[in-house]
Amino acid sequence: MSSSWCLFFFLALLSLSTLGFSPALAEEEDPGLVMDFYRDSCPQAEDIIREQVKLLYKRHKNTAFSWLRNIFHDCAVESCDASLLLDTTRRSLSEKDTDRSFGLRNFRYLDTIKEAVERECPEVVSCADILVLSAREGIVSLGGPYIPLKTGRRDGRRSRADILEQYLPDHNESISVVLEKFGAMGIDTSGVVALLGAHSVGRTHCVKLVHRLYPEVDPQLNPDHLPHMYKKCPDAIPDPKAVQYVRNDRGTPMILDNNYYNNILDNKGLLLVDHQLAHDKRTRPFVKKMAKSQDYFFKEFSRAITLLSENNPLTGSKGEIRKQCNVANKQH
Ligand code: HEM
Ligand SMILES: *[C@@H]1O[C@H](CO)[C@@H](O)[C@H](O)[C@H]1NC(C)=O
Repeated sequence: MSSSWCLFFFLALLSLSTLGFSPALAEEEDPGLVMDFYRDSCPQAEDIIREQVKLLYKRHKNTAFSWLRNIFHDCAVESCDASLLLDTTRRSLSEKDTDRSFGLRNFRYLDTIKEAVERECPEVVSCADILVLSAREGIVSLGGPYIPLKTGRRDGRRSRADILEQYLPDHNESISVVLEKFGAMGIDTSGVVALLGAHSVGRTHCVKLVHRLYPEVDPQLNPDHLPHMYKKCPDAIPDPKAVQYVRNDRGTPMILDNNYYNNILDNKGLLLVDHQLAHDKRTRPFVKKMAKSQDYFFKEFSRAITLLSENNPLTGSKGEIRKQCNVANKQH
């Protein structure tokens, strides 16, 4: 009798101590970001994402531009937490609906990728990881380098629209401000120059360009580029609904290569930040080096994308695994 009481107390103590220790244990068990985080919980996850990105790219080439742009717009705003993907609700404006996000597209195809992952492993893989891995595969589709990236990000529960402008530079931002904003994420000058190389693909709408054409032409623009720009943007005040744009890199618009650096050295950069990157004395040496060497560009680009993708993630038991990327889960 007394021995069974003893056993009872022993077990009670044991369970109490386990309970008491569990929060500490949970914290210890948070490995942060790691390579192949879903190895045991969803081993096919990375393959499914790769497959989906390839299929989508076959049908809609511009999806790859979006995956690349998304990693900047999500990760640079405080955290890679897929807050970019949330829809506007009655309570809060989404990041997607702010002016800095102008031109972002293809979000419904990100849902296609999420649905494919959910069919295999429901509620296991975060939208934040899908966003980052789709960017990696999109970069490959565009002819860029393959970048090994860690996973284990979790999804945030709220939009960061209210603070977005503190983090995302505007199209006409000074290089000092741009370097400062990226510097806060641990990305140095050559990393910034490499990341802007993303503007070697995709497009810029006339609304972001007309201030360089009307009422007077910006004398810094290469005159050889003007007829094309005027043809694409014939109105000083473009109809915001009309899809009028100029391709970022007329030479190789679909390929992520170092041609961007030749363009900006040639004063054919579309945005003011692009132009200034080639003329600021801090960034110009790197621009020249990347214009000369695609290898150097890819090496720096890979390093900078890695840093960007690891910016302040939610891991362990923070955040949640969203069921649908455009809405936070219902709280019970
Ligand atoms: C100083 C920083 C940056 C500024 C001010 C900036 C601004 C812009 C603007 C205004 C557009 C045109 C959007 C439109 O009219 O549709 C654009 C396009 C784009 N940006 Fe950036 N950007 C910056 C950095 C980056 C970075 C770091 C990346 C990725 C690593 C990136 C990727 C892209 C891509 C891929 C497009 C083309 C999108 C498409 O065609 O759908 N940008 N950017
Ligand atoms: C940048 O452009 C915006 C319009 O898109 C304008 O409101 C703002 O004043 C400009 N900023 C600078 C520093 O020129």
